[in-house]
Amino acid sequence: MRHFLTLADFNVDELQEMIDLAIKIKEQTKKRNFVPYLEKQTLGMIFEKSSTRTRVSFEVGIYQLGGVGLFLSSNDLQIGRGEPIKDTARVVSSMVDMVMIRTYEQEKLEEFAKYSKVPVINGLTDSYHPVQLMTDYLTMVECGKTNPVVAYVGDGNNMAHSWIYLAAIMGFELRIATPKGYECDATVAERGLELASKSGAKIAICNDPKEAVEGADVVTTDTWVSMGQEDEKAQRIKDFEGFIVDKALMNLAKEDAIFLHCLPAYRGYEVSEEVFEEHSDVIFTEAENRLHAQKGVMVWLDSKRGE
Ligand code: CP
Ligand code: NVA
Repeated sequence: MRHFLTLADFNVDELQEMIDLAIKIKEQTKKRNFVPYLEKQTLGMIFEKSSTRTRVSFEVGIYQLGGVGLFLSSNDLQIGRGEPIKDTARVVSSMVDMVMIRTYEQEKLEEFAKYSKVPVINGLTDSYHPVQLMTDYLTMVECGKTNPVVAYVGDGNNMAHSWIYLAAIMGFELRIATPKGYECDATVAERGLELASKSGAKIAICNDPKEAVEGADVVTTDTWVSMGQEDEKAQRIKDFEGFIVDKALMNLAKEDAIFLHCLPAYRGYEVSEEVFEEHSDVIFTEAENRLHAQKGVMVWLDSKRGE
């Protein structure tokens, strides 16, 4: 049995298998051919943070695969009143077939997975957002960006960390520009470089958005204030000055460059209204692709049971 906790747990072939499944199931879904790959299965969806895309895409996704999703908010679960995560894991996983969790610490997710009898999927932690990156990879492939130079401009957060692992495993070039003091976690960067040495990926980390974006095929960013950092908002807005992806910055990328955003987007902060609207077709295809990419992940995990 496998869990989906971080991209670093997978090799290129495994990630490619999930993407291939996503592409196949997306085609079927577009023809309204809902093949019941996960018939009668239940997906428990535990949320300790807010969500629009993750909740809708997992709930609709499991339903279209022939199963049902169970929305479990920590406001309602006994976790919220202090029931240990390992007890919750043993209870929930004795009744459902797969679990998706959105929480704070990666360690909490790992603790759940350790005690779970069924596959566990990371629906975002403070450290990683791997299902979003599977989606972003699918979107890049659909846009013909198969061996891209990707520029990530912004916070060295869960999205940046998952970009590092995606690039390192799939073998493309990634340039990350963060403000000073907001760099990626050093352990993640090191692990990324180690994985990159095997795949031939190039990973560059700097503090200059222009240097990162120059000649890029894909430009991406994320909010400056992640969930749980609301108290730091005023300071962060000051510290991220000059890191907005606006028209002047986009003009440094290739002429046919695409812009990706995991959403929610805060116009006037990490991205200008102009850039956002100009690239909105791809951005909202990316959002829709959450549905398809995660089906690939769920069906793949199901196929590994008992191995
Ligand atoms: N991108 C993303 O995970 O969106 P939600 O927070 O709305 O789920
Ligand atoms: N970095 C953001 C991503 C939201 C999808 C957060 O953690 O809030």
